Amino acid sequence: MTDTSPKKLRSAAWFGSADKNGFMYRSWMKNQGIPDHEFDGRPVIGICNTWSELTPCNAHFRKIAEHVKRGIYEAGGFPVEFPVFSNGESNLRPTAMLTRNLASMDVEEAIRGNPIDGVVLLTGCDKTTPALLMGAASCDVPAIVVTGGPMLNGKLDGKDIGSGTAVWRLHESLKAGEIDVHQFLSAEAGMSRSAGTCNTMGTASTMACMAEALGTSLPHNAAIPAVDARRYVLAHMSGMRAVEMVREGLTLSKVLTREAFENAIRVNAAIGGSTNAVIHLKAIAGRIGVPLELEDWTRIGRGTPTLVDLQPSGRFLMEEFYYAGGLPAVLRRLGEHGLLPHPDALTVNGRSLWDNVREAPSYNDEVIRPLDKPLIADGGICILRGNLSPRGAVLKPSAASPELLKHRGRAVVFENLEHYKERIVDENLDVDANSVLVMKHCGPKGYPGMAEVGNMGLPPKLLRQGIKDMVRISDARMSGTAYGTVVLHVAPEAADGGPLAAVRDGDWIELDCEAGRLHLDISDAELAERLRAVAATIAPQRGGYQRLYVEHVLQADEGCDFDFLVGCRGADVPRHSH
Ligand code: FES
Ligand code: MG
Repeated sequence: MTDTSPKKLRSAAWFGSADKNGFMYRSWMKNQGIPDHEFDGRPVIGICNTWSELTPCNAHFRKIAEHVKRGIYEAGGFPVEFPVFSNGESNLRPTAMLTRNLASMDVEEAIRGNPIDGVVLLTGCDKTTPALLMGAASCDVPAIVVTGGPMLNGKLDGKDIGSGTAVWRLHESLKAGEIDVHQFLSAEAGMSRSAGTCNTMGTASTMACMAEALGTSLPHNAAIPAVDARRYVLAHMSGMRAVEMVREGLTLSKVLTREAFENAIRVNAAIGGSTNAVIHLKAIAGRIGVPLELEDWTRIGRGTPTLVDLQPSGRFLMEEFYYAGGLPAVLRRLGEHGLLPHPDALTVNGRSLWDNVREAPSYNDEVIRPLDKPLIADGGICILRGNLSPRGAVLKPSAASPELLKHRGRAVVFENLEHYKERIVDENLDVDANSVLVMKHCGPKGYPGMAEVGNMGLPPKLLRQGIKDMVRISDARMSGTAYGTVVLHVAPEAADGGPLAAVRDGDWIELDCEAGRLHLDISDAELAERLRAVAATIAPQRGGYQRLYVEHVLQADEGCDFDFLVGCRGADVPRHSH
C-alpha cells in the first residue's frame, strides 16, 4: 500500500535531494522554464496523453491536457504531460487490438520509470481506455480517467446518423442495390463532423461508461460531448482531483475492486454496451489482481434490463444520452431498483458510487428508459459454451434478431477473412437465410490481433432478397457499433487448436442463447479426428512485435493480455539512471 506521507512521494526520489542525482533530475527539467519552487515536494502529476493525428478520435487531446494542467496547478500540483502509444481504431492495421498491450506496457513503464506520483489518463478511442487503465493498474498509483468525449450526432440528409453503425447499414444498402456509391460516400463528412469518439454506444462510449461505473472517473465523464465546454471543466476538475488523490493515497487498487467490476458488468447490460468490454474488463481486472470469469457476465449481467436506447441496439446517440442525464441517471435508476450490486463502491472523488448519483436527474425517458419500459428486458452479454467453444464465446442479444437466438443451421465455412471476401460474393455459393456463416483464423493469434471482422456482411444475393440478419460465428471480435446475431470470441481460437478449426461446409450447428450453448453436431470422435488432421494455421511470423504478440497473447476468455503482463508490479522507485 502506498505510504501517504508527503515526504514519501515517489517524485522526491528524483527531485528531493541536494546531491548530484537531484541536480541532474532537476536541471534538465528546468530547460522547460520550470521555476525552483515547483520542485518543493508538491505532487507531480503525469498527464498520460494518447493524442495523435492518426487517432482522429483523440486528436483534440492537447487542448484537454491544457485544462487538466490548469486543474493540477490550481490544486498545487506539478503537471508533466507525456505521450504514450496511441491506438487509433480507424487507421491502425491489422487492428488496434494488436497494440493494446503494447500501449499498456508503454504506460506502465513510463509511470514507473519517471518522477510521477499520480496520473491523469487521457483516453478516448476504443483501445486507449483499457490500455491506459491496464498500465496504470499494474503500477497501482493514484489514477483518474479523463475521456475525450463523443462526437456530436452525425448528420445525413437532415437526419441523425451514428458513427460506425451508419457505415454498416449504408454498406448493406449499397450491396442490396438500394443506394448508389455516390450516396454511400456522401455520408463520410457528416458522420464525423466534430472532434471526439464514436457517438454510438460502440466500444469507446462503452469503455468510457465502464471507466465511470468502475469509479475511475468523475461523474459524467462518459457522455459529455467532446466539444462541450463542460468537457473541459471536467478535465480541469479531474486535474485538481488527481493532486488530492496523491495526498490521500487513493491508489487504483482501492477503486478497482471486485465490487467495482461487478458494478461495471451490470452497467454494461443497462447501457447495451459492447462485447469488447468482456475482453477489456478481464484484462484490467487481471492487472490489479481481481478474479473475473466469463460466467460473471451471465450471473451479474444477464437478466438486467437495457435502459439506454442508443445505437447500435436502439435509436439515439451519445449527445442525447448526455442531455438525458448521462450515466449518473442510469446508475440512479439501477440503484433505486436494487440493481446496483455495490452502491458503496469507492470512486476517485472519494465518495461512493451511490453518493455520486443518488440525486442525479433524468430528463428524457425515451433515451434512458424507466425500468418498466426497457429497450430490452433481458440485456447483457450472452456467454456460450459447448463443443464448439469449450472456453466460451459471446453474443450480444440486444444487437441480435430475437428469432435467431435459438437456431440450427448448416455451416458455410470461410478459412480466413480473405477466403470470406472472395467467397461471399459468389452468386453460386450454397447459402440461404438459415445457413450459419463460420469464419476461422481471426482470433488473437490467427489474425493476429483479433480484428473486428466478426460481423461478416451477408451474401449480396440474400441482401437483395431482403434478408437482414443471419447467424455468424467466429473467433474474431466485432465493432461495438455493429449489430446482428453474431457469435464472437470463440475460444480457443482456430489458430490455437480450437474446435472452430474443424468445422466444414454443411455441418449442422446449434445456437441456443437461453441455454448458453454452441454446439457442432458431430461426434466427439469425429471432432478429435478432424482436429488431428487440421494443422493449426498461424499467420506468417514476421518477427518484431507481432512475434512477441503471437507467442504471449492469452485467449479471449483471459482478456487477450500477454501472459507475462498479468498482475500488479507496483510502483517502487527503480535504481538511479546515473
Ligand atoms: Fe475511435 Fe470509434 S473509431 S472511437
Ligand atoms: Mg472498434
